[in-house]
This record gives sequence, C-alpha cells and structure tokens, in this order.
Amino acid sequence: MRSSTSAINLVLASVLAFAPFPVARTAPATRNDTPAQSQPFTPSGGLNTNSTPPVYAPMSDFDFQSLNLALNQEYIELDLFHFGLAQFSVEEFEATGLDAEDRYLIQYMADQEVGHALMISNMLGANAAKPCNYSYPFTDVRGFLDFSQKITRYGEAGTVGFMEHLNSRAAAQMLSQTVTVEARQQLIFRQFEGLFPMPEWFIPGITQSMHWSLLSNSITSCPKENPRVEWQNFPGLNITNNPAPNEQNLTAGISNNVTALSEPGRNLTLTWEVPGKITGPDGLYKTNTTAGAPQFVAWISQLNTTYTPLTNISGNSGTTIQPGGRIFGDGTAPLINGTVFVVVTDEDVFVTPHNLSMLNPHVVAGPAIYQSG
Ligand SMILES: *[C@@H]1O[C@H](CO)[C@@H](O)[C@H](O)[C@H]1NC(C)=O
Ligand SMILES: *[C@@H]1O[C@H](CO)[C@@H](O)[C@H](O)[C@H]1NC(C)=O
Ligand SMILES: *[C@@H]1O[C@H](CO)[C@@H](O)[C@H](O)[C@H]1NC(C)=O
Ligand SMILES: *[C@@H]1O[C@H](CO)[C@@H](O)[C@H](O)[C@H]1NC(C)=O
Ligand SMILES: *[C@@H]1O[C@H](CO)[C@@H](O)[C@H](O)[C@H]1NC(C)=O
Ligand SMILES: *[C@@H]1O[C@H](CO)[C@@H](O)[C@H](O)[C@H]1NC(C)=O
Ligand SMILES: *[C@@H]1O[C@H](CO)[C@@H](O)[C@H](O)[C@H]1NC(C)=O
Ligand SMILES: *[C@@H]1O[C@H](CO)[C@@H](O)[C@H](O)[C@H]1NC(C)=O
Ligand SMILES: *[C@@H]1O[C@H](CO)[C@@H](O)[C@H](O)[C@H]1NC(C)=O
Ligand SMILES: *[C@@H]1O[C@H](CO)[C@@H](O)[C@H](O)[C@H]1NC(C)=O
Repeated sequence: MRSSTSAINLVLASVLAFAPFPVARTAPATRNDTPAQSQPFTPSGGLNTNSTPPVYAPMSDFDFQSLNLALNQEYIELDLFHFGLAQFSVEEFEATGLDAEDRYLIQYMADQEVGHALMISNMLGANAAKPCNYSYPFTDVRGFLDFSQKITRYGEAGTVGFMEHLNSRAAAQMLSQTVTVEARQQLIFRQFEGLFPMPEWFIPGITQSMHWSLLSNSITSCPKENPRVEWQNFPGLNITNNPAPNEQNLTAGISNNVTALSEPGRNLTLTWEVPGKITGPDGLYKTNTTAGAPQFVAWISQLNTTYTPLTNISGNSGTTIQPGGRIFGDGTAPLINGTVFVVVTDEDVFVTPHNLSMLNPHVVAGPAIYQSG
C-alpha cells in the first residue's frame, strides 16, 4: 500500500518561509553552560539559565542525526493519519465506533504533525529532510488504528531515548514539547482501538538505531537530497505469535477492562533475519549486527530491560517465555504490559534507561513490537 506526499510538501514549503524563531545554519561546536548570575529566587545550579541565547539547532553530528531521525518520524505520522482517513469509508470507521468527531481528531493529530515537522525542520535548517513515500501493512480500520498506536509508541520511545543525550539542551526542550503530544496521540489510538488506554506506569526509551530499524521498514523512497540516516539498521525480528488486538473486534471507548492480551509464561516464537539485507528507503541501507551468537531476549518496557533465555534455537528461530515481575515489587505495575520492545541479544548486559545504547553492540536482531496488553 502506498500514499503520496505532494500535498504535504506544499504545506511545508509555504510555512517554512515563516520560521517562528531564528534558524541557526552553523551551530557553535561548544557552548558555555555557565550558571546564572544569581537571579532572585533562583537556587544555585541548573544549566542554561543565564542570558546566553539558547541554541535551537544541532550542536553535534549526534544531535543532527537524532533530529533527522525524529523529523522522518514526524513525516510518516503526518502521512499515515491522512492516508488512513482517506483510505477507509465513513461506514468502515463507524463499524469500529468512530464517528465524525473522532475522525476530526485524527485529522487534528495530522495537523499537529505539520507543526512538529516544521519545528524540527527549522532547527535543522537547509539540510532538513523532506517527506518520503511510505508503505503500510494494514487493510482495514482496526489495522490502521493498531499500526498508528504502534508507530506513535516507537516515535515516543525513540525520542525519549535520545533527548537527554543531546548536546543542545534547547533542542531537547523543543522535542519534549512534541513528545508529550505524541504520547497523547498514542493513548488516543489505544482508546480508538478499544484497549485499556495506558497499561503502564512508565514509557520506555529505545535507542536511535532501534528506532530507525523499525521506522526504515515503512519508508519506500525519499527525495535524493535527503540527508542519509546514519543509525544502524539491525536485522529484522518477527514474533510469529504476537497477540493482535485488532482481531478481537473491540469498540472505541475512553477505557475498557480488556482481558489481558497475554500473560507471563506465554511462549513466544521468534524468527530473525541474517545481517546484510538491503533495506530502508530506496534500498540505500543494509542491516548489520556486531553481536555474537543469539542467547537472550531483552524486553524493553517501563524503566527496565529484562532478559529471558532464548531457547530451542534452530537456525534463525527460537522461543522464549514472557517474563513476570513487577517494577518495584509486589503491588506495583507489571514489567510487561501494553506495547513493548523485544530484541534478541548475545548477552544479558545490565542496562538502565540512560545507558540503553550500551545494548546496541549486543543486538542480534530487532526490535520487534510485542503487543502484550
Ligand atoms: C513517490 O512515489 C512516486 C510514484 O512512484 C514518485 O513519482 C515520487 O518521485 C516519489 N517521491 C519521493 C519523495 O520519493
Ligand atoms: C511474521 O510471522 C507471521 C506468522 O508466521 C507472518 O504472517 C508474517 O508475514 C511475518 N512477518 C514478517 C515481517 O516476516
Ligand atoms: C470478529 O469479527 C469477525 C468478523 O465478523 C469474526 O469472524 C471473528 O470471529 C470475530 N472475532 C472475535 C474474537 O469475536
Ligand atoms: C476493571 O478491572 C479492575 C481491575 O481488575 C476491577 O477492579 C474492576 O472491578 C473492573 N471493572 C469492571 C467494570 O469490570
Ligand atoms: C495489563 O493491563 C491491563 C489493563 O490494566 C490488565 O487488565 C492486565 O491484567 C495487565 N496485564 C498483566 C500481565 O498484568
Ligand atoms: C512453552 O514451551 C515449552 C517448550 O516447548 C513448554 O515446556 C511449555 O509448557 C510452554 N509453555 C506454555 C505456557 O505454553
Ligand atoms: C557490519 O558493519 C561492519 C562495520 O562497518 C562491517 O565491517 C561489516 O562487514 C558489516 N556487516 C555486514 C553483514 O554488512
Ligand atoms: C523447537 O522448534 C522446532 C521448529 O523450529 C519445533 O518443531 C519444535 O516443536 C520446538 N520444540 C519445542 C520444545 O518448542
Ligand atoms: C526496574 O527499574 C527500576 C529503575 O531502574 C528499578 O528500580 C527496579 O528495581 C527495576 N525492577 C526490576 C524488577 O528489575
Ligand atoms: C548502566 O548503568 C547502570 C547503572 O544505572 C550500571 O550498573 C551498568 O553497569 C551500566 N551498563 C553498562 C553496560 O555500562
């Protein structure tokens, strides 16, 4: 399935002329983060609270490529929401419980993406990527809602994962003001799907390479001048028995006590690709791994990366068991619920939210999105 983006290009081109704040074409390499000259009622410490103008621009290649990834994410959401609205009839939407006002909310969410894409384009300046062509795996409204719920989740997790690592804290601030909207979109798509709106206490972060590995699968072709995305494309991972909420004929609602889609102890069957596959937009990317032999499955969810053994390995397939456990022990939220990320690894390295990227060299394949609840 394909969709065109020419209308979006027009909208962006016309609005880009009116950048809401100065666009820095050449960012300084370093920045003086001296503390504030004691302003009244301001405790000591903190960063960038002095009169030095904030730098709303990449201050490193790391920043540029993180923002480049985020911009590609905003474009696909913009395209996807328009595409879903155009693709299905009023009757098809109404059969899932979505009326005209609900459909307007999807339209409004697309408009939010125009703003997000503009904001990031303004920070990137002349080198900002343009929208691409995309391909989507769904054939009905429920599939559209489920895909939208998943894509907003990995957009959210991808941004949360790198925001605190940017050199430009000013750019990170702008992103935090988009990702909070993205989180609301994810929740709304779960409600449209008829699921419990937020069955987790914390939204996990993932690394840029994990994000790009997921996103690049849906981008078919891009304008030639778009900057290359420099993150790693990990080999693909497939959960062949993933629970599918869209098969349960749920109806939209603010909150539904949906019977858990999965429970601890559930068997997952996994298949993964070998590295070296040509992938991504225009076939310009190639999957790669630096990991050794597959041994574990990492579950990235809540604040935690939890490992289960990968068993019954045969060629590029294996099984594992959904772990139990609760974030802070009995009476707290389960480690695994909602839409979580599953990765095959060679080691069970201990990582926490701020050093998750230490897992990248150990990724054999993935992530796959596991729909546990
Ligand atoms: C999108 O696809 C159309 C039709 O194949 C093609 O004409 C156009 O150049 C593509 N656009 C981009 C940005 O790749
Ligand atoms: C994943 O596995 C399922 C079940 O075997 C299959 O239908 C689907 O096509 C696979 N997806 C990919 C991307 O390989
Ligand atoms: C959902 O609806 C379809 C089509 O009406 C039907 O075939 C299927 O059995 C239903 N599934 C459930 C879980 O009720
Ligand atoms: C919803 O689930 C909660 C937690 O299991 C339970 O306490 C509550 O009674 C349920 N409410 C309804 C209306 O099913
Ligand atoms: C996941 O959350 C839903 C909604 O709160 C709940 O019904 C379900 O039991 C939870 N699953 C697990 C495994 O705790
Ligand atoms: C999962 O598979 C293993 C090995 O095939 C089996 O021993 C176990 O009973 C299965 N567990 C469930 C919950 O089906
Ligand atoms: C993966 O990348 C490394 C480093 O660039 C390279 O040496 C290796 O050949 C690549 N592997 C594949 C399968 O392309
Ligand atoms: C192990 O995997 C093979 C296929 O890869 C399957 O036929 C077999 O049933 C599996 N065994 C267990 C114990 O899950
Ligand atoms: C989950 O992560 C939090 C924060 O790092 C930690 O305090 C907690 O112990 C972890 N829970 C489990 C079950 O590992
Ligand atoms: C990640 O950080 C935790 C502390 O939060 C530390 O114990 C762990 O060793 C670090 N992992 C790696 C791979 O550096």
